[in-house]
Parts: sequence; structure tokens; C-alpha cells
Amino acid sequence: MAQSLYFPLLLMALCSISECVQRQYHFINEMKNWTEAQRYCREKYTDLATVHNMNDMIQLNKTVNVNDRGVWIGLQGTNDSKWHWSSGDPVLFLDWASGQPTGSDNCTVLSNGQWFVGACNISWFFICYNMSGGLVYVNQSMNWTDAQSYCRQNHIDLVSVRNQNESQQLEKFINDRNSSGSAVWIGLFRDPWQWSDQSNSSFRYWKTSKPSLPDNEHCAATEKFNQGQWGDYLCSGKWQLPFVCHEDKLIVIQQNLSWSEALRYCRQNHVDLVSVQSVEMQYEVMNVVKLASTEAVWLGLHNYCSMNMWLWLSGDMVCYQNWAPGNGSTPENCNLEKRKGAVQSGGDQTWISLPESRRLNFICTNY
Ligand SMILES: *[C@@H]1O[C@H](CO)[C@@H](O)[C@H](O)[C@H]1NC(C)=O
Ligand SMILES: *[C@@H]1O[C@H](CO)[C@@H](O)[C@H](O)[C@H]1NC(C)=O
Ligand SMILES: *[C@@H]1O[C@H](CO)[C@@H](O)[C@H](O)[C@H]1NC(C)=O
Ligand SMILES: *[C@@H]1O[C@H](CO)[C@@H](O)[C@H](O)[C@H]1NC(C)=O
Ligand SMILES: *[C@@H]1O[C@H](CO)[C@@H](O)[C@H](O)[C@H]1NC(C)=O
Ligand SMILES: *[C@@H]1O[C@H](CO)[C@@H](O)[C@H](O)[C@H]1NC(C)=O
Ligand SMILES: *[C@@H]1O[C@H](CO)[C@@H](O)[C@H](O)[C@H]1NC(C)=O
Ligand SMILES: *[C@@H]1O[C@H](CO)[C@@H](O)[C@H](O)[C@H]1NC(C)=O
Repeated sequence: MAQSLYFPLLLMALCSISECVQRQYHFINEMKNWTEAQRYCREKYTDLATVHNMNDMIQLNKTVNVNDRGVWIGLQGTNDSKWHWSSGDPVLFLDWASGQPTGSDNCTVLSNGQWFVGACNISWFFICYNMSGGLVYVNQSMNWTDAQSYCRQNHIDLVSVRNQNESQQLEKFINDRNSSGSAVWIGLFRDPWQWSDQSNSSFRYWKTSKPSLPDNEHCAATEKFNQGQWGDYLCSGKWQLPFVCHEDKLIVIQQNLSWSEALRYCRQNHVDLVSVQSVEMQYEVMNVVKLASTEAVWLGLHNYCSMNMWLWLSGDMVCYQNWAPGNGSTPENCNLEKRKGAVQSGGDQTWISLPESRRLNFICTNY
């Protein structure tokens, strides 16, 4: 009786130790040119830093502790411009008017239901999307960059059009306002910048009037003294700057192994099987688990039969809970059939308990 009273208290005490979110960016305070910095990051971490959104930018900026010079990130100019959505959505659908895109301009206007390339410094009305995915017609003319900033400050971003359906919804939205004749900016833009890790991130945070020379000799650096906004510098030669690397925290290994084999693999090649001790970590897991080829994916979660409890490999108890219904209790026959925890790669991505001999993909962590 005494024990059953104690146990929840003990659990609460242990569970109240707050989880710190693991940091992805590493600031390296050594002067190197961009190419050398890239080599360093690829050897020690994953790559030079990629930035996906404003949240990433804030995290990255926090790690930087020099204020008097630029700091390399992983963005490099190329000779090949590509179309991107401002929101970062992959470009899977294009609805150009016939003969478009043509010319050397880099932004996109929608007029009479069709897309045209437009000069980014011209001012038009524009369409943002908001938190609930709703469209917002902004009845103020701005150039494309200002329109993008306006949407990012007041809503989410300039509108993306990912398929025929969304294209029709946008057209209807505009027709309902009797504005189909007037041109509006949408979030499609073209630029020649490419991330070192080949990521599709279309997030850009240039300071005003940068980049000046978008060609393959220029690389981006964040400037703390400019609120972290980016300037472009010559990649090679005299510009030696400190830099920021990023490290992928979680890696899905697409091999079908038993839990013990998976554990051995992670400890040999990375650090460990992943422990999911917070909702933030569960989100990270949900992000990567899409890449798995098995219906469930091993986690570092094991049943400690004699204590009648589940533990993470880190030794911590399971405080944050995300079990599927019916899972997460200790099975009656736990001495005979050792059970381990896995996350479902589809559906609601909750955790299930499975015999440890099942052969599944698994998630290693680099921390
Ligand atoms: C980048 O986008 C393309 C399609 O636009 C997609 O096929 C590719 O997998 C994406 N790459 C990454 C790393 O997400
Ligand atoms: C957009 O307009 C702002 C002024 O509102 C100006 O500072 C900026 O240079 C313009 N950008 C482009 C690409 O024309
Ligand atoms: C988003 O836009 C839609 C349609 O314009 C609107 O109904 C909704 O209230 C907006 N939601 C937010 C959170 O602004
Ligand atoms: C924009 O706003 C002005 C003034 O409020 C109004 O006269 C005009 O009709 C509006 N245009 C559109 C396309 O909504
Ligand atoms: C198109 O969008 C509507 C409204 O969001 C949705 O109900 C419908 O299922 C979508 N159709 C397709 C083919 O995606
Ligand atoms: C669009 O035009 C129709 C017909 O002229 C009119 O009845 C309707 O009120 C207009 N809608 C708006 C949002 O101005
Ligand atoms: C792992 O198992 C899944 C599901 O059974 C299968 O589709 C996949 O091809 C297997 N992968 C390997 C590398 O054997
Ligand atoms: C665990 O969850 C899965 C998925 O919801 C379910 O199929 C299974 O029956 C559950 N296991 C137990 C012992 O209830």
C-alpha cells in the first residue's frame, strides 16, 4: 500500500525535470572561407546550416556570438535559377499562361486566372494565406518583397498553389471579389540560390537590396549586427568568416532489424536509438518517420519486466505519453516475450509495443 502511494509521487518528481530541446545549430568561431567551412561542417556535423523558416532563423541567431562580422550559412549562388514558393512548399504544380515563363524577371503575378512572370519591383495587390489556410486579399499595392514581408508579419506567407484544386479555389476567391482582371502577386519566385545540403528550403532573409550579385561566386552570411539578416560575400578568397553548421538530430535507418540489432547499429554508427521524452521530440519523430518503409519504427523504448514499467534507453521513465489505445501496459508474460516500443509510421503515429524480434526500420539520434 505504502509503495503504491509513493510511486506516483516519485514519478511526478522525476517527470518535472524539464526537457531541454536539443539544439540543431553549432556555431564555429573559426575563420574559414565558405568552401572550407562547408568541408568542416560535413566532416563534424551534417552540413553548413540550412534555414527553413523564421523559427530556425531565431534559433540560429541565438547560437551566434560574434556581432562584428558576417557568419556563413549554407546558401550558395549558382548559375541556374529555380522556381520556389515563398512558403517553402515544393513546386509540384505550375499554371503558366501560354508562352510563360519568359524574360528574366523573377516574380509571379496572377491575372485573369493565369500566371505571368512579373518584375519584382513593380507594385501590385497580393494574396496571403492565414493560420487556418484561408485566403486574404490585401488591397494595397506593394512590390513582391514588401508583399512577402507584409504577409509574413500579418498572416503566414504569400499564397502557394499546390494543385489544380487550389488553383480553382484561388480563382473563385478572386472572382467572388470581381477582381479577376486586376493582377495580384502570388508566392512564386525564382532565384539562383541553393542550400549546401540540397534542401528545398525557399526561406530567404536578405537585408534590403541584397543579394547584389546573384551568381556562383557569392555565398550568404547572416549578420547579427543587422538583426541576423543576410548579406552576400565572395565564397572564396579573402572573406574568411566564422560559420554555423547544422546537425540532423534524427535519422531513419531503412533497414529491417530486430530491436537489439537496431540498438547495436545506432550505437556503432550514430549515438543511440531515439528517446521521445517530449511532444517536441515526438514532432521531430513524426517528421522523419514518413521516410520509413515499415508500418512501425523502433524507438529506444523497452519494457522493464521485473519493475512492471517502460523506460527509455536514457534511463528515464515514460513521462510524456503517446501510446496507442491498449498499448503501454506491461504484458502478463513479459518474462517470456520481451517487448519493445515502436512508433507507427502512418495514421496517428502513436506508439505500440511489439515483440523485440520484429524486423523494423528504426530511428537513430546523433545526440
Ligand atoms: C525537393 O523537391 C522535389 C520536388 O519539387 C522533390 O522531388 C525532392 O524530394 C525534394 N527534396 C527534398 C530534400 O525534400
Ligand atoms: C520594395 O519597396 C521598398 C520600399 O517600400 C524598397 O526599399 C525595396 O528596395 C523594394 N524592393 C524591390 C525588389 O523593388
Ligand atoms: C483566415 O481567412 C479566412 C477566409 O478569408 C477567414 O474566414 C478566417 O477567419 C481567417 N482566419 C484567421 C485565423 O485569420
Ligand atoms: C480597395 O480599397 C479601396 C478603398 O477602400 C476601394 O475603393 C477599392 O474598390 C478596393 N479594391 C478592391 C479590388 O477591393
Ligand atoms: C478540393 O478542395 C475541396 C475544398 O477544400 C475539397 O473538399 C475537395 O476534396 C478537394 N478535391 C481534391 C481532388 O483534392
Ligand atoms: C460583383 O459583381 C456583382 C454583379 O455586378 C455584384 O452583384 C456583386 O455585389 C459584386 N461583388 C462584390 C464583392 O463587389
Ligand atoms: C522492410 O520491410 C518492408 C515491409 O515489409 C518492405 O517493404 C521493405 O522492402 C523492407 N526493406 C528492406 C531493406 O528489406
Ligand atoms: C496497440 O495499438 C495497436 C494500434 O492501434 C492495436 O492494433 C493493438 O491492438 C494495440 N495493442 C493492444 C495490446 O491493445
